[in-house]
Amino acid sequence: MSAEPRKRRLTAPDIRARKGATPIVSVTAYNAGMARLVDPHVEFILVGDSLAMVEHGMVSTLGISLELMIAHGRAVMAGAPSALVVVDMPFGSYEAGPEEAFRAAARVLAETGCGAVKLEGGAHMAETIAFLVTRGIPVMAHVGLTPQAMNALGGFRTQGHDEAGRTQIIADARAVSDAGAFAVVLEGIVEPLAEEITREIAAPTIGIGAAAACDGQILVLEDLLGLTERPPRFVKRYAELGAAVEKAIGDYAEEVRNRTFPGPEHVYQPRK
Ligand code: KIV
Repeated sequence: MSAEPRKRRLTAPDIRARKGATPIVSVTAYNAGMARLVDPHVEFILVGDSLAMVEHGMVSTLGISLELMIAHGRAVMAGAPSALVVVDMPFGSYEAGPEEAFRAAARVLAETGCGAVKLEGGAHMAETIAFLVTRGIPVMAHVGLTPQAMNALGGFRTQGHDEAGRTQIIADARAVSDAGAFAVVLEGIVEPLAEEITREIAAPTIGIGAAAACDGQILVLEDLLGLTERPPRFVKRYAELGAAVEKAIGDYAEEVRNRTFPGPEHVYQPRK
């Protein structure tokens, strides 16, 4: 189903204004081609640091550099004319303090042309979020399962199963919303907690493996398209493109080996 063309690119305030309204649709994209395909259907595109694993074959998101995030951010901006583009701040580029975070985030905005950055972390990142927001950098926050903290969390584990965990995640979500984040990603937290946070905080919540009650949802595009081998359990696959790619390459290889490709219609013929 194609959507109505937009007259202008969506902004962070447009997403902020969607609290409690029609659910916000978003996916990740890492290149111009995919960005062009998803742009008409989503409100924002996240150039997620998941690209470290999906595109660069790394074992975690920790190894991606600011330069690579900027290169992919620029490519997505080139392909997506109307959705808000949000670029993830990579591990190590923003945690040391607000000023370092500002310098890195300013590079992301200036060098990609994107409209916002995302960073991981709760109450301990609130000061940095407020610092960036008051200096003109819209920030999407990300709490719950924060993959950049996988070493501290003991892996990619669902969060919020016990009372202490729940209390911490609620405090984190409140703190980043109060600090001025225009939206908050809730990743890998139990459903009732995601619902409660969505009711309680002013910023729209964007769920991933969280709850349908969130103000919006995000998925890694390659997961929903069936292009990743072992997607997280919560993922719904809307297509099986991995199988389609394998079949197409297999058919091509067979025809090349049998010399049935290229046939006369797929080569240049001398002009008559
Ligand atoms: O890096 C990423 O893709 C994310 C998600 C929220 C999907 O942070």
